[in-house]
Amino acid sequence: MNILVINGPNLNLLGSREKNIYGKTSLAELMIWLETSQMGIKHKFKFFQSNHEGDIIDTIQDERFWADGIIINPGAFTHYSYAIRDSILSVSIPTIEVHLSNINNREKFRKISVIRDVCIDQIYGKGKNSYLEGLKILLEFLIDKK
Ligand code: DQA
Repeated sequence: MNILVINGPNLNLLGSREKNIYGKTSLAELMIWLETSQMGIKHKFKFFQSNHEGDIIDTIQDERFWADGIIINPGAFTHYSYAIRDSILSVSIPTIEVHLSNINNREKFRKISVIRDVCIDQIYGKGKNSYLEGLKILLEFLIDKK
């Protein structure tokens, strides 16, 4: 399967950003860990991070004929980007939403995800394992669909 992994704003600072919340692993380390995991090595990955909403939308559109599935951590865009929500709907690619932290146990605004209902599932609060679990659920979904 071809898996597109998208990380939104400020996730480029993983490893130095609020380590007590997001952990000590850098984004590059996390992505390599995911790609080389037992599950990951059987599949092809493309990784994209941006602090800009439009760039994330462009990537979703540009990769729509390549990607079988998308793993997305939209960062703070999760809570208000109807444009990212629309782009997920527009391409009809099975997408899973992941978060490192427990968004339901923090500030009130983080409890809202405007992309939750256009994704096959939402995984949060498991640190880097949120990505691994997200990959597992996405692959199960894609394989079932075949
Ligand atoms: C996050 C949670 C968001 O609320 C926050 O804005 C982030 C990271 C997470 O992975 O826990 O940037 O998506």
